[in-house]
Amino acid sequence: MELIEGMLNRRTTNGPFRPDPVSREHQHLLMRVAQAAPSHFNSQPWRFVLIEDPGTIARVADLSGQSMTELIEAGVFFERYRRYFRFTEAEMDERRDGIHIDRLPGPLKPFTRQVFSDAGLKLMRQLGVPKKLGEDNRKLVAGSPLLLAALLDKSEYRPGELSGFYSVFGLGAAIENIWNTVGTLGMGIQFVSTPMEIPRQWQAIQELLKVPDDLELMAVYRLGYLPEETARPSIDWSSRHRKRLEQFVFRETCDRPEYEKPTQD
Ligand SMILES: Cc1cc2nc3c(=O)[nH]c(=O)nc-3n(C[C@H](O)[C@H](O)[C@H](O)COP(=O)(O)O)c2cc1C
Repeated sequence: MELIEGMLNRRTTNGPFRPDPVSREHQHLLMRVAQAAPSHFNSQPWRFVLIEDPGTIARVADLSGQSMTELIEAGVFFERYRRYFRFTEAEMDERRDGIHIDRLPGPLKPFTRQVFSDAGLKLMRQLGVPKKLGEDNRKLVAGSPLLLAALLDKSEYRPGELSGFYSVFGLGAAIENIWNTVGTLGMGIQFVSTPMEIPRQWQAIQELLKVPDDLELMAVYRLGYLPEETARPSIDWSSRHRKRLEQFVFRETCDRPEYEKPTQD
């Protein structure tokens, strides 16, 4: 039951962590649950780098913050991901997917709906939002006591071939095991994804981590213990909704959505 509860309560941490280091015991436990994941032919194609060096964390934080500013400034972020943004509870209730931008700074509030339009982008630039978001992001990463880089062995990770898919699948399972475990340890986890969006920034992180030619850097996460209570970031979202069964499950064939008794929520 605890495992099921844990999985149902798993979540992404958008806010800061406590500065205390993550104990070596907990770090190794996270690695153990990661490697408990399934992999094709038990190939265990995943590799991980545990990063605690403050200099390295600060550098990744700089790259992450700069990438965030650059992506927002150029409108790339909203261009790429507009379709996932929701602005009202009603929209969330109907679609039950995407992320609900439920917290915006005062000056932007009247423009909530336009925030991701071209006019909204202009306004955001005028208000210095890209810099602010970049700085918020830099601080969140810089204040994380532990970064985790996830890599794949390139002899297994061959994009375009089945083994490429299998490797990504296995790494996903390994990461999910970590994600499901952090909550029990009083910890949180979040993707540090903005540098991935800009090839030269991703390259800079690979160099920083001395990633050899036979490994591919797939993702970077920030982790730490959760504080008792935190103020939410100035621009924030929630994404606790999930689709109803009939929106993603079929019975026997793909033309018969699964029926589910209506619930109260
Ligand atoms: C492949 C993938 C990429 C993601 N990228 C990011 C990201 O860049 N930043 C972030 O904060 N969360 C990221 N997430 C987390 C999702 O936003 C999150 O899982 C989703 O909104 C549901 O929220 P929950 O994890 O709290 O249930 C990612 C998740 C996956 C599986």
